[in-house]
Amino acid sequence: MTSSIPKHSRTIMLLACLPALAVLAREEPAKKDLRAFFAINCIVCHGADGSARGADGSRLKGQDFTNPKDMKGFTDAELAKTIRKGKAFGRMPSFKDRLSEAEIMEMVLQVVRKAEKGKTIAPEEPVK
Ligand code: HEC
Repeated sequence: MTSSIPKHSRTIMLLACLPALAVLAREEPAKKDLRAFFAINCIVCHGADGSARGADGSRLKGQDFTNPKDMKGFTDAELAKTIRKGKAFGRMPSFKDRLSEAEIMEMVLQVVRKAEKGKTIAPEEPVK
């Protein structure tokens, strides 16, 4: 059976679908290992366990996530906003170009809020 749609129109219709596919692809990215992301991008200021202490016990620049008294003062939305926008005139960098909104919230709930003193935030997959 021959289609009544001319061949070039079919090609155009096919091409017209590509942006939609791109959108779909963007909405389901491979899930990022946020603990690995933390181990690479955050520990210089927040420490391997989130306590803002270096391996030698020295105080690093970032917020101590393992101090419940401090952490109670922040809502999840505030923590997410800091990761998104940065803070303290860039001493806390913005990560909005590298983490999606969903990833930022997951970072808050699954990594930052769960930090425990002395417990290394180990990646799900070993960092290569
Ligand atoms: C170059 C240092 C640096 C790096 C890298 C860094 N931070 Fe921070 N972060 C800071 C500083 C400094 C503060 C505290 C700002 C203050 O005292 O007001 C902070 C605060 C925070 C807070 C506390 C919320 C708040 O409003 O103070 C969160 C949550 C946070 N950082 C998450 C992260 C995450 C997640 C990463 C990695 C993706 C990261 N930070 C990387 C320096 C850093």
